[in-house]
Amino acid sequence: MRMMKRVGLKVLVLCLAAATSCTTLTQNRIGAPVPFVTTPPRVVSEMLRLADVSPGDIVYDLGSGDGRIVIAAARDYGARAVGVEIDPKLVQESERNAESAGVSSRVRFIQQDLFQVDMGEATVVTLFLLPGVNVMLAPKFVKELRPGTRIVSYLHDMGEWQPDKTIRIDTSSVYYWVVPADVSGTWTLQVQKAEGMSPQILSLRQAYQKLSGSVRLHGKRLDLRDPRIDGDHLSFTTSGTVGGEPVGMHFSGSVRDGQAAGVVVVEGGIFSGSHQWFGQRSPK
Ligand SMILES: C[S@@+](CC[C@H](N)C(=O)[O-])C[C@H]1O[C@@H](n2cnc3c(N)ncnc32)[C@H](O)[C@@H]1O
Repeated sequence: MRMMKRVGLKVLVLCLAAATSCTTLTQNRIGAPVPFVTTPPRVVSEMLRLADVSPGDIVYDLGSGDGRIVIAAARDYGARAVGVEIDPKLVQESERNAESAGVSSRVRFIQQDLFQVDMGEATVVTLFLLPGVNVMLAPKFVKELRPGTRIVSYLHDMGEWQPDKTIRIDTSSVYYWVVPADVSGTWTLQVQKAEGMSPQILSLRQAYQKLSGSVRLHGKRLDLRDPRIDGDHLSFTTSGTVGGEPVGMHFSGSVRDGQAAGVVVVEGGIFSGSHQWFGQRSPK
């Protein structure tokens, strides 16, 4: 109850702060938890710029209101775009707005609950919802969106999933995330033409884009330095001894469906140089 009051108060404050763009609260009319409040045009441009939208993108705006983000993505960036909006009147208004902007052939509006929509084709997702709704959406994003999909949100973050970037526009924040591939678990790595170094056992723990873990080489457990997952791009550095000599190794590569491949740069020892590596994750 206290939480609802707090959310309600925040909405009211938002509406007062954006008095020119806030129209009606649709909450009671259609039972939607998020009211219709529009994103200012300048913020719409900054959100799409932050997501680096280009003609190859498919942009999904969840809770698309009057369609302004969808229309701007198609009109200003040449993307295809989809609005998901629960209020049928707003869907009709969006379709009229798209027609006037001359982008009807590149946009569509779906009248549906955003929690039910299939958004697997999206390469960019835009949000102006409420903090609690963003947090509830995070598991859907990780499950349904492809690694590398960009997400931008006006005003609200996603709780434990920390943003990769945050920008300020006047007094407001816009948050940016890249959906990471799931790399958690145990991997067997093979380094080509460096048989003395193979196989290595890589263990990774993951909380969204934050990784930690170790690699086991010749029975020794070595911690990873700076492990990263950026979309489907995995990298980490480790160091130890091979054949009694100190060796540093920087792995980078791409990950897909429990398999990984890339290049490892070895510094020191008899395997010094660049080698290809392959990884296979053990079934979870
Ligand atoms: C804050 S407005 C944002 C509108 C638009 N995206 C913009 O930035 O200008 C949120 C929109 O989400 C819609 N909405 C609320 N709950 C929804 C749900 N469960 N599914 C789809 N749309 C929803 C509301 O009707 C409202 O139009």
